[in-house]
Amino acid sequence: MKKIIAPSLLSANLAFLYRDIEMLNESEADWFHIDIMDSSFVSNISFGYSFIQYVKKYASKPIDVHLMISKPELYIKQCKNSGADHLHVHYEACIHLNKTIFSIKQYGLKVGVAVNPHTPVILLQDIIKDIDFVLLMSVNPGFSGQKFIDNTYKKIEDTKNLILKNNSYALIEVDGGINLENAYFLFKNGADIIVSGSTIFSDLDPKKIIRKLKKY
Ligand code: DX5
Ligand code: ZN
Repeated sequence: MKKIIAPSLLSANLAFLYRDIEMLNESEADWFHIDIMDSSFVSNISFGYSFIQYVKKYASKPIDVHLMISKPELYIKQCKNSGADHLHVHYEACIHLNKTIFSIKQYGLKVGVAVNPHTPVILLQDIIKDIDFVLLMSVNPGFSGQKFIDNTYKKIEDTKNLILKNNSYALIEVDGGINLENAYFLFKNGADIIVSGSTIFSDLDPKKIIRKLKKY
């Protein structure tokens, strides 16, 4: 278990983005999580390439990009050129998932496959050896500040079993509705990475929240 903390910039104060990037640089956070949405795969629009570029310019930690978009295979090169280090694509958005995974790897990026709350992780069995991360969505993707879905604990268990059975090195990342209470149990149950937006950025002292999460 790695216990990596990836704050989601979707909840950052965009009027003070540079300040929030510096805060995360100084904090015990491990990665910067950036949510890209296209209003097609999810019913929201967030950031484009320029946002990734700006964060990359000032961030001193890896950039973890979560593509909540249709046809993500069309945007791999631009994400790489903008500064992404990890690229997550949704299982539900990829018709040729195997091809997309290898295309991401060819660009030298680490690759994750995200699964919506309703998608059984067993569907990843034929690609689990080829990926670096399984990104378990613990809310329906599209918005920050939603309620955590408890079935995620079962999905962590299922993912762990799948990884072990297939001798995969994939790490388990969980995203959505994570707070100081459930984070403890997520790590305890086998999550390696947690993504957290509103819990971190809505506090007056985000670094303190990150420190607490990191201690679990
Ligand atoms: C949701 C995004 C998350 C979001 C998490 O679709 O993928 O990364 O920013 O925000 P919280 O932690 O507030 O649920
Ligand atoms: Zn995300």
